Amino acid sequence: MAAIIDGKKMASDIKEEIKTEVENLVKEYRKSPSLATILVGNNPASEIYVSLKYKACKESGINSLIYRFSDTLTEEELLKKISELNANKEINGILVQLPLPKHINTEMIMEAINYKKDVDGFNPVNSGRLMNNCETLAPCTPKGIILMLEKYNVEIEGSNVVIINHSSVVGKPLALMLLSRNATVTVCHIWTKNLKEHTLKADILISAVGKRDLITEDMVKENAVVIDVGISRVNGKISGDVDFKNVKKKASLITPVPGGVGPMTVAVLLKNTVEAFKMQYKR
Ligand code: GUN
Repeated sequence: MAAIIDGKKMASDIKEEIKTEVENLVKEYRKSPSLATILVGNNPASEIYVSLKYKACKESGINSLIYRFSDTLTEEELLKKISELNANKEINGILVQLPLPKHINTEMIMEAINYKKDVDGFNPVNSGRLMNNCETLAPCTPKGIILMLEKYNVEIEGSNVVIINHSSVVGKPLALMLLSRNATVTVCHIWTKNLKEHTLKADILISAVGKRDLITEDMVKENAVVIDVGISRVNGKISGDVDFKNVKKKASLITPVPGGVGPMTVAVLLKNTVEAFKMQYKR
C-alpha cells in the first residue's frame, strides 16, 4: 500500500518559508516582491488557477496584480502591456496565464517577457538555461514535482522515469530536469503506441494528461512512485489521471488529486517571484 505524498502540506510549509523571506526582504529593501498576472478571456480553469495564485501571493506577503482582458484582445495590445510591465520597476514577476486565445501566438508572447521577470520559466532564455542544468527561473509544475521527489527521498539517479506529456509547460522541462539528475527518461504522449508497454517499466510514473482513469493498476509496476498531474472535472468532481484507489495498492508512493502537485505549482511560483525580485535587486 502506497504512502501518500502530501503536496498540500509541503506547499504550505514552503509558503511559510516564503513569508519569512519576504518579511526580511521588506526590511532590507522597503518593498515586497510584486507579481503581475495577465488573464485573457474567461476560461473557467484559468480563472480558478489565477485566483489560487492571487490568494497564495497575498498570504505570503507578495503583491499581486491581475490584469484581465477580454478574448478579443489583439496580440499587439498584449505585447504592449507586456512591454509596459517589463519597463515597470515596481513589477518583479510577469505571468501570462495559458492557454491564450488561438489568434495570439503564445511563443511570441513568452519571448516578449523580460527573462528576469519570467516567473513561469517559459522565455527561451530560461528554457535554454534549463538545457544547461540551470534552474533559476524554471517552470513551476516540473520544479514542484522535483521538490516532492526530493522531499520523499525518491532515488532519481539511474531510475526509469516515464512522463506522459510532451508540452513545454510540463513534459519537456520535466524531462530536462530529470535528465540532469541522471534518470533514464521516456516521454510519452498522445501518439505513443502501446502506452502500457512503457508505463510498466517506470520506477517513477508521471502522468499529465487530464483524462480520468487513464492509469490503471495493470499499467503500474510494483512499488512504483506515481505522480498525478492530471486534472479533469467529471460531474463536478475533480479527478486526476490515475485510478487512485486501485493504483495505491500497488505503488510505493502516490500523489492525490486534489492536494498533490497542484498546490506545489503555486508554491514554486511564489519561490520564483522572490527569486526574480532578488535577481533584480541584488548585484
Ligand atoms: N496553464 C496551465 N499551467 C500553467 C502554468 O504553469 N503557467 C501558466 N502561465 N499557465 C498555465
